[in-house]
Amino acid sequence: MSEQTVEAPSSPVDFYNAAVEDPSPASAMVSTSAVSSADLADDPARPDPALGPTGRPRPHLPAPQPRTRQSDAVIIALCNQKGGVGKTTTAINLGACLAEFGRKVLLVDFDPQASLTIGLGFNPNDLDPTIYHVMMQRGVEFNDAVIETDIPGLHLIPSNIDFAGAEMQLMNEVAREQVLARALAPAAASYDVILVDCQPSLGLLTVNALAAAAGVIIPLECEYFALRGVALLHGTIEKVQDRLNPDLQIIGLLGTMYDGRTLHSREVLSTLVQGWGDSVFHTVIRRTVKFSEATVAGEPLSSYASGSAGADAYRELAKEVLARCPDA
Ligand SMILES: Nc1ncnc2c1ncn2[C@@H]1O[C@H](COP(=O)(O)OP(=O)(O)OP(=O)(O)O)[C@@H](O)[C@H]1O
Ligand SMILES: [Mg+2]
Repeated sequence: MSEQTVEAPSSPVDFYNAAVEDPSPASAMVSTSAVSSADLADDPARPDPALGPTGRPRPHLPAPQPRTRQSDAVIIALCNQKGGVGKTTTAINLGACLAEFGRKVLLVDFDPQASLTIGLGFNPNDLDPTIYHVMMQRGVEFNDAVIETDIPGLHLIPSNIDFAGAEMQLMNEVAREQVLARALAPAAASYDVILVDCQPSLGLLTVNALAAAAGVIIPLECEYFALRGVALLHGTIEKVQDRLNPDLQIIGLLGTMYDGRTLHSREVLSTLVQGWGDSVFHTVIRRTVKFSEATVAGEPLSSYASGSAGADAYRELAKEVLARCPDA
């Protein structure tokens, strides 16, 4: 590993611009001393139980209380234009854990790949209406498309390949960036949290999700190339804040597929915290084949392997999300 020390950036954007301008992995690395706290937390030889994998003291978050407010659902978009970073896995498992904590949760499959629909055990080809019809066809309401999952309190608006044509069709719509926001508005009174699982792109559909949402969660794989895409996504979020949705917040960045045994994973996480500070969730999702197994079984990990470390990690994430979104 390089011993090179990178000067602290003045802002997350500078930080990522620097990483993008110099694509050498060394530009995303920090000195050994800078990652020492993460090392301590994750090196089995030198454990420090007070520090989490992000190198910060772990917060103690009590079990969430039942929701008492009657406010509208908090809409959260799961976004990252990079593919395969854990957006859908997070939608399924965060949604299931929020439901475990008593929240009424609506998952919106906003991707024609329909991984969220499949991951909850449904065959997308059998489903009609879907999110496509809710958005694009007059007279189709959100609750025409809602299906109940096997998890109490967890509902789904599915997707399928029909949705692939939506982006082109939206081009000709009036107020084309706000079609999802309008379609979901009537659902807000029936749920506590609505999670929108975006496709891996920064196109018009993702802009629709950002325009509808109160907040964004950015899952990213703990590897170097993950850092490069975040600046681009941040730019899109800022444009949506300026032009469409001034209330949009970044709820947090979530490190996924973390492997604390590798220096690379620890360095990427440490670098992320250096650039984004407390925007990075304390919870980190470790790499485990259990997530793929649960997908094949069509279940969230909290029901497929309720006592597993992965299920517990998503429970911790659910607590953090509820702490960061007091209205949820
Ligand atoms: N923590 C993890 N450990 C191991 N495998 C994981 C983990 N999280 C997700 N996976 C697996 O990685 C693959 C991609 O995950 P997922 O579908 O959630 O990513 P995505 O960001 O939604 O992808 P896309 O951009 O294609 O929609 C899946 O096979 C999933 O089971
Ligand atoms: Mg996905």
